[in-house]
Amino acid sequence: MSNIVEKAIQLLKAGKVIAVPTETVYGLAGDACNEQAIRQIFALKNRPADHPVIVHIAGAEQLADWARQIPDTAFQLAKKFWPGPLSFVLKKADHVSSLVTGGQDTIALRSPNHPLTHEILKGFGGGIAAPSANRFGQLSPTCAEHVAKSFPELPLIVDGGPCQVGIESTILDLSSNAPRILRPGMISKEQIERVIGSSVEQAEKTSPRASGSRPSHYAPNTKTTLLKTKELENFILRATQRIILLSFDMHDEWPCKTFVMPKDPAAYAHIIYQTLHDADQKNFELIVIETPPTTPEWSAILDRLTRATK
Ligand code: TXA
Ligand code: MG
Repeated sequence: MSNIVEKAIQLLKAGKVIAVPTETVYGLAGDACNEQAIRQIFALKNRPADHPVIVHIAGAEQLADWARQIPDTAFQLAKKFWPGPLSFVLKKADHVSSLVTGGQDTIALRSPNHPLTHEILKGFGGGIAAPSANRFGQLSPTCAEHVAKSFPELPLIVDGGPCQVGIESTILDLSSNAPRILRPGMISKEQIERVIGSSVEQAEKTSPRASGSRPSHYAPNTKTTLLKTKELENFILRATQRIILLSFDMHDEWPCKTFVMPKDPAAYAHIIYQTLHDADQKNFELIVIETPPTTPEWSAILDRLTRATK
């Protein structure tokens, strides 16, 4: 076991809050059975107490430690997608603190796919509560530097490199009869439906249960706007602000700085937060983002971009 993994386990056992990498975004991690640690996570993030956190576990064999009345679909999906960017909302086991669940009688569980964090989870043995390691409402961190900027006071930030997926996990509510996606992610509704053999609902955008489902979330500090391809030229040629543009093509002749974004959704998701963090650092007055296609494979990205727009 590497030194850093051992140190992470020691700190978690001592009730400390640290940052860990996952394949989606970095998490602000604490022992899910230690109320002091959970309180500290909420305090550091400035997160309202009624917004529950996801508990991370090593694998499906630990589901029953945290949840009850687990439907077969959870095991089928875990077999296919875990470790990976899919969280389940299930009825919580009796011992689970209501601090973790925001007072609800359900718990969100996920087995993340990052070798370092997997080793930490195995060695730690319990569950690790870990919301994204950003202050409430701000952009999620996809590398250790982003976390260090928001939380320089942490005793340890486990540096696992840039996050491979780059946006937060799909959250699937399996706590009632009809499976429902509470937050879209790179594991799509269609992929889930193929495994469980029945249709899945998509929750209304305004659902109050998931904090990621509030409209202004995942937002850069710089004002950000989404524009359709055909609106871009007119807008940029007339604008008076200093603009940074995230578009699918280079437009050398336009008076703005341009980041050319990938046309493949997985590649786009991988760099979107990094790009927004970078754009935010550069002292522009407006971030303009070219709206991606409205096809299903772009839906999680479109969801995050819409929330980044305020
Ligand atoms: O990819 C991810 O899910 C990342 C990494 C670190 O695992 N985590 C993450 O955590 O995005 P956070 O706290 O930023 O978002 C967790 C979302 C919130 O929107 C929260 O409201 C929702 O999960 N959630 C947690 N428990 C829930 C529950 N019992 N019912 C409904 N929503 C829940
Ligand atoms: Mg978050």
